[in-house]
Parts: sequence; C-alpha cells; structure tokens
Amino acid sequence: MCGIVGYIGDQQASKIIIDGLKRLEYRGYDSAGLAVINGELKIKKGKGKVASLEKMITPSENGTVGIGHTRWATHGEPNDINSHPHTGQNGKLALVHNGIIENYNTLKKKLSDQGYTFYSETDTEVLTKLIESFLEKDASDLKKAVQLALHQVNGTYGIALVHSDFPDQIVVARKGSPLLLGVGEGEMLIASDASAVAAYTDKVIYLDDGEIAVIRKDDYTVESADQIELSKEIHELALSLEEIEKGGYDHFMLKEIFEQPKALSDCLRGRINAEEGTVTLGGIEGIMDQLVNARRIIIAACGTSWHSGLVGEYLFEYLAKVPVEVEYASEFRYKEQLIGEGDVMIVISQSGETADTLAALREAKSRGALVLGVVNVVGSTIARETDAGVYIHAGPEIGVASTKAFTAQVTVLTMMAIKLGLYKKTIDNKEAKKLIGELAQIPAKIEEILESTDEIKEISNLFSYAPNFLYLGRSYSFPVALEGALKLKEISYIHAEGYPAAEMKHGPIALIDEMMPVVVIAATQHTNDKMISNIEEVRARKGRIIAITNPGNEEVEDLAEFKSIVPETMDVLSPLLTVIPLQLLSYYIAVNRGCNVDQPRNLAKSVTVE
Ligand code: AGP
Repeated sequence: MCGIVGYIGDQQASKIIIDGLKRLEYRGYDSAGLAVINGELKIKKGKGKVASLEKMITPSENGTVGIGHTRWATHGEPNDINSHPHTGQNGKLALVHNGIIENYNTLKKKLSDQGYTFYSETDTEVLTKLIESFLEKDASDLKKAVQLALHQVNGTYGIALVHSDFPDQIVVARKGSPLLLGVGEGEMLIASDASAVAAYTDKVIYLDDGEIAVIRKDDYTVESADQIELSKEIHELALSLEEIEKGGYDHFMLKEIFEQPKALSDCLRGRINAEEGTVTLGGIEGIMDQLVNARRIIIAACGTSWHSGLVGEYLFEYLAKVPVEVEYASEFRYKEQLIGEGDVMIVISQSGETADTLAALREAKSRGALVLGVVNVVGSTIARETDAGVYIHAGPEIGVASTKAFTAQVTVLTMMAIKLGLYKKTIDNKEAKKLIGELAQIPAKIEEILESTDEIKEISNLFSYAPNFLYLGRSYSFPVALEGALKLKEISYIHAEGYPAAEMKHGPIALIDEMMPVVVIAATQHTNDKMISNIEEVRARKGRIIAITNPGNEEVEDLAEFKSIVPETMDVLSPLLTVIPLQLLSYYIAVNRGCNVDQPRNLAKSVTVE
C-alpha cells in the first residue's frame, strides 16, 4: 500500500530516499515524508506527491542516515499531520509504517493514561510512543525496545525507524507487509520493493514475517520473531533500470500494453514445444501427481488477477475436465472454507503481496490443501509461501492498472491447463500440438493489434464523456468483459459494468438507450450465434454498439456502429487478444479526460492491507 525507503552509508540520504520513493509512488501517493539523522533528527513531510516533498528538502536535511515514506491512507485522511514519518514524544525517534495496527485504539488509551499525547489520527503514531515507552525503561538498545513494542501489536506492518541517540543504525521489522534490505558496498538500503534499490545494488535480502533487522553502513543483523540470529540468503536482482523507466512512452500503462508481445514471449520461452506438443513448467513438475489427482481446483485472487482466474476456470474445466471454483480471496478467508487434503488452491497475484490473497493462501495451506502460485514479482511473499508455482515473467508492472500481468497470467493458466490435460489424457498430443502451436502465435497477433490503434482511438474520442459503459461477453469473453469494465473504471472513473451477454436480459438491459455505449466481445466461434442475438437486443434499444470481433464476422460488423478487429485464434485463447483493444480504449479515454493514468485516485498497485 505505502512505500518505504531507507539509506545508511556515506552519501546524502535524502536524495537517495527521494529517488527511491519516486519509484515506489505507484504503491501510494497521497502524502510523503522523510527523516534524516545529522546529529539530531530532521523531518520534512506533507500532503502531496514525492515531487512536492523534494521541493521541501533544504541543505539542513543533510545526513547519511535516513528513512522515507509515500502514503496510501488507511487511518486518518491524507494531510500534513497524518503523513509519515511519525515521531516520538521527545522528537528523537522517527518511524515510517506500511500496514494496519488493528489494536491501536487500545494501545493509544493505555499510553495516554501514561501521559503520552497524540497529534495525529493515525494508527502508526501509537508505535512511536510505544517504542519510546520501552526506551524509557532501557535506553541502551533500540532494537530491543522495538521488539518489546511489537509484541503488543496486532495487525500488519513493515516499519523502519531511526533515533538520534542511535545515529549509526536503522531498525526495520515486517509482519504482513513486504520489506527488503539492499546490500551495497559500504552502504545499506531498505525498501518495500526492489525497484527502489535497483539503481544502487543488485543484491537484496527479503525479510520474512516476524523478522527484525538492524542495519549499519557496513553490516546488518536479522533476527527471527523468537530472537534467533538468522543468516539470510542474498538474492541477485534481475531488474534493469531501463525496465523500470518509461522508455519513451507517456505513461507506464501504455508502455506495459505495448510490452505484451515481449512479455508473453518471455512467459512462453523455454516452456512450450509445439513440435512435440509439450509444456514444461519447472515450478510445478514436482507436484503434477497431486494436481492430476486433485478433487477440485480453487482459484483465489483479487481484482484483475481474479478475472484471469475466471478465464482459468474455463480453461481447466475444458482442457483438463477438473471442477474449478473461483473465489474472491477476501470472501474466501471469511466464509466456511470447505477445503483440505486432496484440494488444490491456485493463488494468482501480480505483486505477490496482496493481503487478502496471502491470507487465503495461508488459510488453505493450514487446512492441508496444496497451494500453487501464479505470480509476477520474483521473491514476493506469496511466491515464497506457496508450495510450488509459476512465475509469469511479465517484467515490472508499474502502472496501477494491470495490463501485461493479466495476459501473462492467462498465458500461464493456459499452459498449466494444457499440461494437466495431457497428464490426465483429457486432450491428446494432436490437440496439444494445435493449441501450443496457436499459443506460440499469440505474441505476434498482439503485435498486429498494437500496430493499428486508430480505430480504438477514434472510438475513445467519441465516448470519453459517456456517463456509463456496459461490456458484454459470453464464455471465455465474459471475464474479458469484466476486465474491460474494470480498466475503464480504474483509470477514467467512468462507471462501467461487465456482464455475461445473456444475463443482460435479466436486468441491465433496462440501462440501455441511445446514450449507452455497449462493448460486445464477439470473438468466440462456439457462442457467436448467441452473441449476435444479444447484440440484436441491444440494437433494438438503440445502444451504441462497439464490437470487438474477428475479420469476416460480417453479421456482427453489420450490427455494430463501431468495431475493433482482432486476429482470429482458437476460442480458448481469444481472451489474450480481445482484451487488448479494451486496455487501449480505457487508456485513451482516461488520457482524453486528463486523468492520472499511472496513479489513479484512491488506488494503489499492491493492496497490502485488508
Ligand atoms: C488491477 O488493475 C488493479 N491494480 C487491482 O485490481 C489488482 O489486480 C488487484 O489489487 C490484485 O493485485 P495483485 O495481482 O498484485 O494481487
């Protein structure tokens, strides 16, 4: 949700922290702040983006030890007072936090009774006073005071703190929110994710839940929850700076839409062999027997990842004849979980840090189910906690609206379904060769769509100020309709709904008149006739029909007022193509409306709190 960065070394910390916060701004961007130690504690913070914080920094904020934060508010509205870092009573301690302290009210009351005063509405400020209350008792060990304080905390946190009495260290701890250490030459960094440290080091250490670390410029120690010193593995980062820059595009979202041919080629590379009709997925080879004998598959995810899970349901049931249920992770964790031995859960997450998906994973694991992950961010918590899994290799996705991660997730689910179908002999080698052969063509077919965006640009210019949109699709195209609607909602703030086309008659058809743009996805042969009758029903109510269809689908083209043609492919693979014009439509409409495409209001790239 929020982004945390810290630096200790010989260089000026504030510049490095500001750079890092800018890279993490997609995580939250309603306020920002930093603290440096230079003999004493210096803090600058306020409502607004990191750029406005940068303007506030003066030479007096020089210092070679510091921490910074970019916020996505959970407790207390975005304003100067509630922005981080938060300080202790005596102005020596500064702390930044990503997560939610659930019992902060109880702790606040207890501390107020002890004479501590509070200036903000945040849960985080309670942590600073709690740590200080332990330092009152023993001022010799900052880490110990933090450990004692965290023992009293319920909730999730990724925290970093500095204290002017301990100018040679930064203390960090995590439970539920991601944190990593960047190991440099004579300097150390900390961050919520690797993109903030990639410019300074390619060596990172991922902290796990319950761990606390003390970092100094030349060394670091990491302890487990029960205070055992750990020797943590140092991971080599595969991220290049170029990958996390905009590469000449106006927005990360547009760059990531146009990166899909490469992202899917990377996702397929070394995994499919069309000649032999085989799929190799190293991350799940070892559990195929359990997958083949699975009673059922439960897919759990959130947002766009939930939509790719819905496509996965169609794929697994059609290709591998295994019953699949798709759950909103946030609902799964609080309903009666009839899951256990013999069941397989697949959790899908781009960031690998989404709190509800992580909780669903842990719930399923604790009940004996095998949990597989389909994840993008390497080394993320979900990737590390699943029993096995497949990385989607889409590269860093920085635009808050997920695009290439969706198509890469669907590509991985397609490969998994083909592999399982081959294992279960529900598809034969000939079918597999045809499927894999066609899958290998998808990157080039997406390239073809991206070569001509004029049609979709023209449509977006016409409907940029439509108050509502409706998206309709059948079968594999239904999840695509949901995804198209979500993209438009997220970045243009236009109300939009996706619906199974036949379901329209049971209510939403009442919304249709000459003001309602209706996007119909008609690119699956086995439901084309039915789609045509649904388009007729929309046309009869004067809806403005925008058809996403294949070349030569005359009936649909004749019925539609506007169309965007995508190359033909097998029905099971059609979501990988039909979603592209919908991503572009939402993008161009959002740009026309002057919206902040990469950092839409009220949203954050990875939702690490419930
Ligand atoms: C999609 O554009 C959104 N950013 C959001 O719905 C996202 O898909 C959801 O928060 C899940 O994120 P994850 O894939 O990182 O778990």
